[in-house]
Amino acid sequence: TLSRALTRAESLIAETPDYPEPGVLFRDISPVLVDAAALGAVTEAMIAPFAGTFDVVAGIEARGFLLAGTIVATAGVGTLPIRKAGKLPNPAASIEYHLEYGSAAIEAPGVLPSGARVLLVDDILATGGTLGASRKLIAELGGEVVGASVVLALDELGGERVAGPVHSPFHA
Ligand code: PRP
Repeated sequence: TLSRALTRAESLIAETPDYPEPGVLFRDISPVLVDAAALGAVTEAMIAPFAGTFDVVAGIEARGFLLAGTIVATAGVGTLPIRKAGKLPNPAASIEYHLEYGSAAIEAPGVLPSGARVLLVDDILATGGTLGASRKLIAELGGEVVGASVVLALDELGGERVAGPVHSPFHA
């Protein structure tokens, strides 16, 4: 059962219709991030199934960085930033993935210890392209993905078909 803080956190997720284009309902977790009790409850719920199973939390640019930071403080692990392409001088790995129109790529520095157990985190699972590419990126870096966790999964988009299993306290 959801704690009261978790129930309130879910109600805080902001929805903006027709952004960034008509017909799309944009979800923003910023109201959760700014609320200490809500952020704490969401952080606990995101990592609960993975307690003790990971050494590194990998946050995906940009909102995934913020969640990774709170998880670092709670779980006593390190963090690996997964960057959008073009931000790193010397990426150790780069994975391209498909967007609705065109493609994107994510990259990471070559700092992950071999065999590190990695939990992937981001704010939202949509089509799954970003998390699917992140799994491949960690494998290419020599790490082991133990799981993936997001705040909100948009279930109707079927993102787990692309991303693999994704845990989340909230679904839409
Ligand atoms: C959003 C979100 C996830 C991704 C999910 O990022 O933060 O990273 O999309 O979509 P997918 O499951 O279809 O891959 P966005 O591309 O808006 O970048 P930002 O976080 O830098 O704003």
